[in-house]
Amino acid sequence: MTIAYTPFSPEVRANPYPFYRALRDGAPVYFIESLGAYAVSRYADVHFVLTHPELFSSDAMRTMFISAKPGADPTRDPELLAGMVSIAQALPFTPHEMITARQLISVDPPEHGVMRKIVSRGFTPRRIASYEARVREVVADCMRRLYANGEFDLVRDFAIPVPTVIIAEMLGIEPDRHEDFKRWSDVVISQSSGSRRGQSLRKSGYIEVIRELSHYLVEVIEARRAKPAEDLVTTLIAAQEDGGVLTPMEVVAFTLLLLVAGNETTTNLIGNTVNTLLAHPEQLETVRRRPEMVPAVIEETLRYEGPIQFLFRRTREEVTIAGTTLPPNAFVMPILGSANRDERQFPNPDVFDVERDTTGHVGFGLGAHYCLGASLARLEARIAVEALVDELPRLRRRSSVIEYVDSFLIRGPHHLELAWAA
Ligand code: HEM
Repeated sequence: MTIAYTPFSPEVRANPYPFYRALRDGAPVYFIESLGAYAVSRYADVHFVLTHPELFSSDAMRTMFISAKPGADPTRDPELLAGMVSIAQALPFTPHEMITARQLISVDPPEHGVMRKIVSRGFTPRRIASYEARVREVVADCMRRLYANGEFDLVRDFAIPVPTVIIAEMLGIEPDRHEDFKRWSDVVISQSSGSRRGQSLRKSGYIEVIRELSHYLVEVIEARRAKPAEDLVTTLIAAQEDGGVLTPMEVVAFTLLLLVAGNETTTNLIGNTVNTLLAHPEQLETVRRRPEMVPAVIEETLRYEGPIQFLFRRTREEVTIAGTTLPPNAFVMPILGSANRDERQFPNPDVFDVERDTTGHVGFGLGAHYCLGASLARLEARIAVEALVDELPRLRRRSSVIEYVDSFLIRGPHHLELAWAA
């Protein structure tokens, strides 16, 4: 069988899993012409790539947010270069501050460890637990709105607001700037993986948003320096005994990462869980009878239909994976969504089974860059699903067609149009 896999095709977006199976069985290392990257699809090989940063660099993630190609090279791509110059002009920082700024997701060990230690202070188990009461309030607000309407879009009215409000509050964004923050998040997210991806950065409004967001964050940083508060920005800029601190430019870069890495992913985890439970009424019934199983449902959803389908890495030297030798500087695309459906690791992988052992799923990645926000995402998803699970049998879909988000990287329902059953 010839394999024609391109992550951008509508068929793949509708259902990528048969393509992944064909790759795993017929071409476990497959060169995707349109991306210039090698797709790696078996669990053991994805595991190998993600746990060997000395062979596979994360610098391939650097241009991920603004370009459709992994590690796109601005010196060869005039459009990308022009975009990067415009971003630089919009930022209130000197060229030196920009060049030396580190971005967590694209730095490699040992530097990655130094940076991760600084930002982890904002994600300690105690810190995350302290958000629980607020997550409950936001979820309860969303539920009241759902009850008040006969029909609604669960993505728009529930799965989007929960993480967005929490991230804004976590960063300490003043309530009167929440509307702006939401607008900035929307543009940053859609530029990174959605419909505006590939559009000129200026036309999409991205440059203007970067200007507004970065100027605003610099004000916040100055205010917190003068008067520290209980928020993430204060934590990131507070010098510690070991001297670890983020520069203002790094705070802006990290905030952008949180917007992209933390919002849409959690939205889609909630959306995927609800969508999958609606499609599997017998599994829904199991969870309704035993609500203590909600965390297991979330883990099974991360395995079965994870919000992030793949990552990028770059080979540092010649390396052989599953019998294929890759040259140095090759782009590698470990497909998380395929590793999680590999029958070599998970028996009957295409069956959604809330009682299965999901240990080892790679929905949050693996190794040094393992998702920093995993416990926050789990907390939000658990409280959201606990609130919804008893109501789901009373809800019906208003459309049988499920349109997936306009992204080649993120997976989840674009809308979940539901109505209360009469
Ligand atoms: C269901 C929701 C989420 C999923 C599926 C998810 C998935 C991932 C994955 C796969 C990675 C690994 C990237 C790599 O190895 O290159 C990652 C990293 C990261 N995630 Fe998440 N994420 C989610 C939610 C969040 C949230 C809520 C936050 C923060 C508020 C967050 C912040 C981060 C950060 C900062 C990193 C980079 C860590 C590093 O480079 O050391 N994520 N995430």
